[in-house]
Amino acid sequence: MNVGYLYSLLAVIVLGLIAYAGVEAAGLQWLFGILIPYLGLTIFIAGFVYRVMDWAKSAVPFRIPTTCGQQKSLPWFTPNRIDNPATTLGVIVRMFFEILLFRSLFRNTRVEIRGERLSYKWVIWLWLFALMFHYSFLIVVIRHLRFFLEPVPWVITLLEKADGVLQVGLPILYISGVTLLLGATLLLLRRVLIPRINYISLAADYFPLLLIIGIAITGIMMRYFTKVDVLKVKELTMGLATFHPAIPEGGISGLFYVHLFFVSILLAYIPFSKLMHMGGVFLSPTRNLANNNRRIRHINPWNHPVKVHTYEEYEDEFREKMIEAGLPVEKE
Ligand code: HEM
Repeated sequence: MNVGYLYSLLAVIVLGLIAYAGVEAAGLQWLFGILIPYLGLTIFIAGFVYRVMDWAKSAVPFRIPTTCGQQKSLPWFTPNRIDNPATTLGVIVRMFFEILLFRSLFRNTRVEIRGERLSYKWVIWLWLFALMFHYSFLIVVIRHLRFFLEPVPWVITLLEKADGVLQVGLPILYISGVTLLLGATLLLLRRVLIPRINYISLAADYFPLLLIIGIAITGIMMRYFTKVDVLKVKELTMGLATFHPAIPEGGISGLFYVHLFFVSILLAYIPFSKLMHMGGVFLSPTRNLANNNRRIRHINPWNHPVKVHTYEEYEDEFREKMIEAGLPVEKE
């Protein structure tokens, strides 16, 4: 049995308890409210830049685009301009659909053996959950900018209005908060319950999902159930954003610090984890290169001139000695 998710679950619970006890019992507000968030952000930025630079520097000596359609070829073959782009414009269109709509995931299939036959079934669920999860995450993060900006830009207020359009409850329910939790939970259940996916899943697959679920649950609890003092939160976050950090008088609830600690851990963890796909997707040679191998001769740009010693030169140099030794020569 794959118990990777139990270790990850335990890790997230322990992290939550550390932050809660650290604030409520040990009074370490400055540690969990100021130092660790700054540290998390610093590791995130430095690590992200390092990983992207590392990828950008690595050699791509030839074109290796993934090709999922007819390549541009003789005039009477219709090329697939997006799945097998031959031009930079085609690559841009392909990347656009890939990044904004997860196009390749949309083509997800499952292989099954039915009786004697091998069949491929179109499976849309992963694409749906992934799209829901990522867009919800993006909207929640953009909405959170209201804590770090004063005055709050109208775009964020508009987004909040749109997100609360259902007008359910007080404070009004944000759709993206719920779909974030739902999306992350479905992605987690997929890894736990489907035996084949479970078999190939590692703790590193479960941990980020559980951490994000932890962030969403603590956030939802703060907003709808325990009702955190948002003004005090804003005081703290504005202090952090303007580099004049201070813990607000009277304090904020321990749950808030758990939320913030989870976010800081997530930020620090990103550069070391598979979550770097958010930067890596732009640098993936299988995605960002046009497939024009047959049309254009690509010469490795950093090939430096190599000093070679041809056989002809070799023979010129040693011809007499070779003849003396009875070795065959090409030129007498
Ligand atoms: C990865 C980043 C983050 C995610 C995914 C996240 C997620 C959430 C979610 C889902 C909620 C529930 C309500 C809603 O839908 O907005 C929430 C609420 C909340 N979050 Fe976050 N959060 C993040 C970062 C932060 C940060 C950095 C802070 C502050 C330093 C913060 C402070 C709060 C507060 C105070 C609430 C309650 C809001 C209210 O009562 O209106 N969150 N968060």
